[in-house]
Amino acid sequence: MDSKTYEKEINLTDSSDKLSQLEVKYLGRNGVINDLLKKIKDIPSDEKKDYGQKVNKLKTSIKRLIEVKKKELAGKKSEKFFDATLPGKIYPKGSLHPITYTIEEIASIFQKLGFIRVSYPEVEWEYFSFEALNMPKGHPARDDFESFFIDYPEHEKFGRMVLTPHTSSGQNREMRRLKTPPIRMINIAKCYRRNWDATHAPMFYQFEGLCVDRGINITHLKGTIDFFAKQFFGPDREIRLRPHHFQFTEPSFETDINCNICKGTTKINGKKCRVCKSGWLELGGSGMVHPEVLRAGGIDPNIYTGWAFGFGPERCLMMKLGLDEIRDLYGGDIRFLEQF
Ligand code: DAH
Repeated sequence: MDSKTYEKEINLTDSSDKLSQLEVKYLGRNGVINDLLKKIKDIPSDEKKDYGQKVNKLKTSIKRLIEVKKKELAGKKSEKFFDATLPGKIYPKGSLHPITYTIEEIASIFQKLGFIRVSYPEVEWEYFSFEALNMPKGHPARDDFESFFIDYPEHEKFGRMVLTPHTSSGQNREMRRLKTPPIRMINIAKCYRRNWDATHAPMFYQFEGLCVDRGINITHLKGTIDFFAKQFFGPDREIRLRPHHFQFTEPSFETDINCNICKGTTKINGKKCRVCKSGWLELGGSGMVHPEVLRAGGIDPNIYTGWAFGFGPERCLMMKLGLDEIRDLYGGDIRFLEQF
């Protein structure tokens, strides 16, 4: 067979279909090469070896040509379809949950003031959640913290196990940990209560500030919360302390921040402000640590004084963004979360 014939034929092929046909034509079961091999029986025996070698050489060379051509055609195909102007694949990008980054922001504001971030057990003994906070067994104030108790044997000193209903349970733990003041704690943790409505979820977060040292008074409390409010909500925000009652602080306050929608006027274009009622919004509770709470933590209230507060990161975030449904934050709906 003339080598020029098949070489030309293979080299001039311009599609993989045609090349497959040639492959069958030359290398197939009834192809040219097999025909040549079949003829070996008619070849005189002293020429058989030589003949066989030639046919095999031919076969190898055709095979190689076809391989080369195959690669060439595959390359051409992808070159032909490659459009460098098409946009690349866009992979979905993850981001932190809005509550997570709010918590990080809060922690970093308090860390600037030298507060140490701590976390204490989510499943806590009754003692740390109530008794250590001046709420003995049977005290009606405990009803405000409708709690989830755990089915677990009672501890002889610390009572039942409970899903911690507030971060105030960290106060006694931090006093025990440090033993002597100064204490500057920021405890950010999950809390659990039997609540479920537009502004309450059964699981939520709180951040609890605790500061104990010699000579600590209300001005320190107010100055610290004011610093937080200006850092978190903006420099034009102000806070006020309104008398209230908590069992673990004396005096106690509700802490408010001025409304930035109506600027404290309670009206927008003659209509009632839809965000606040009085020009102020409630941040949460605060006060001077009750002497009994200091005593329970092993701290002498005649030497040391302290303040504490407990606020909700979700509430702060909702106030900052103007959200009115806490459940949106926990719904896990990607269309909501993607906006942050
Ligand atoms: N633990 C209170 C609650 O969950 C909030 C609170 C009020 C914390 C006053 C405090 C405080 O530290 O001083 O409702």
